[in-house]
Amino acid sequence: MDEEMPSEVSSVEAEVARETWITRMGFIFAVWGSMTGLGNVWNWPFKVSVLGGGPFVLIYLVLLALIGIPVVLTEFVLGSTFRRGFPGALKRIHPGGEFLGWFTLVNAAILTSFYVVIIGWAAVYAGYALTMAPLPGAMEVAPGVAPTFLDQPYFFVNVLLSPLTVVGLIAVWIVIFIIDYFGTRGIERSVMIFFPLLWIVIIMMALFALAQPGAAEGIDFYLDPLRVDFDYVEMIGKATGLSFFKLSAGMGILTAYASYLPRKGELTNSAVTTSLLDTTFAFTAGLAVFPIAATAGVLGAGGAGWAFIAWPGGMTGVGGNLLGFVFFIMMVLLGITSAVSLTEAIVTAVMDKWGWPRNRTVIVIVLLLFVMGLPFASWFEAPGSAGGEDVSWGLYLLDIFDYYVEFFGLAIVALFMMLIMAWVWGGSKIIDAANESGDFKLPSWYTWVVKIVSPIGIAIALVFVALQGFYMPGVIADDPGTAPLLFQIPFIWFGIVVIFAIILWRMKGVD
Ligand code: PHE
Repeated sequence: MDEEMPSEVSSVEAEVARETWITRMGFIFAVWGSMTGLGNVWNWPFKVSVLGGGPFVLIYLVLLALIGIPVVLTEFVLGSTFRRGFPGALKRIHPGGEFLGWFTLVNAAILTSFYVVIIGWAAVYAGYALTMAPLPGAMEVAPGVAPTFLDQPYFFVNVLLSPLTVVGLIAVWIVIFIIDYFGTRGIERSVMIFFPLLWIVIIMMALFALAQPGAAEGIDFYLDPLRVDFDYVEMIGKATGLSFFKLSAGMGILTAYASYLPRKGELTNSAVTTSLLDTTFAFTAGLAVFPIAATAGVLGAGGAGWAFIAWPGGMTGVGGNLLGFVFFIMMVLLGITSAVSLTEAIVTAVMDKWGWPRNRTVIVIVLLLFVMGLPFASWFEAPGSAGGEDVSWGLYLLDIFDYYVEFFGLAIVALFMMLIMAWVWGGSKIIDAANESGDFKLPSWYTWVVKIVSPIGIAIALVFVALQGFYMPGVIADDPGTAPLLFQIPFIWFGIVVIFAIILWRMKGVD
């Protein structure tokens, strides 16, 4: 708790006493820290390679200009105008807006609860990469021989099927708690260190990777510009969802962070700069991972399995455990600044609505998110895994929830937020608010981008994703025992989010 912030403040005083970033750079780095997360390392590069190589990158950039950046800017305007977290700010436009605000935060809370589980695995990985200690468990490399970090997939399975998932989870939450306990000061200080550090690491890794013999093959796999036989419907639908995930949009985070700007803080340039920095980092991460994977002969697999199985397994040949240590520590730091931002988005909304002091709010929210994450850290073996590999319940749940939260939840939120902002509040007000202090002025036709182009683009993307049908991880789809149960998850997800959002919306507050 900082001296300038009295601990119990009424909402009127809160308006005056609201925390602010110390510097403009602090705000930009903090937003970048939120945007640039685990998604840059496993999600973005992998989706590029699977969904469309070079053409995908171009489509992503176009969608960034037409949908992603306008949404980021609108979230900024919302926060800086009303100086509240997402629900409180939307409430000032329309009473029903507060429902959307809580819907967003509940959805994003689910996302964060499993996101931190993945950071937890990365933390466990970093520790074992450094020490190269063997990890006994369900799988052995040979009878009586426990796998080390480099022995994949045995090591991954042993981590997932052991309480280490919870140990990692606790360790990561402790760090998040400490940073967020100090509010904007904590966030600003940590990102000021992490920002240069992470850029140096990723650039060095990319240079190292590009010097490997498999570089050409890896880059070809990543960006292959000549392939055109892609499914463009899937590509556009998923690129949009991915861009929201990447930009931390549709989570209430950008609004929370912009609410800490001093009056007349710059928004337009900040939205463009942070979005492009995030994409550049993701692009560079792709340059770092694929050449190494190609050199090690592990190109091809995907998703979390790829980052945690193929990739470290490939390090036996290239870079070894030290590269592994650097890589997984980088993942931990990238993930933490993202998880902190979402924790803060919830914390600020609770402080706004109930006037709670920061210290109490942070303790309650961190504990809540930790407990919500426990099912995703469940190390019990799922029954009848048909793929022949042992998988934990936690991984199953995580995989499916990830799909619905990322591809439906975020886009639904972004769509309704854009409609409320551009049509209920006013598209020209968004432009005016941005232009008031923008480094450069948006032309008046930009009103139509926020009113028409972005919302329609998001709606199309949602339809395109829906056309992909229900998502089932391959192992589950083949298995008649678990499939019917897990098939319910999209409905369970939607039900949980709506019910909790209504409760939070209807509760009496002081704001
Ligand atoms: N933008 C983050 C990423 O790319 C996603 C995220 C943000 C997840 C905030 C949780 C909380 O990884």
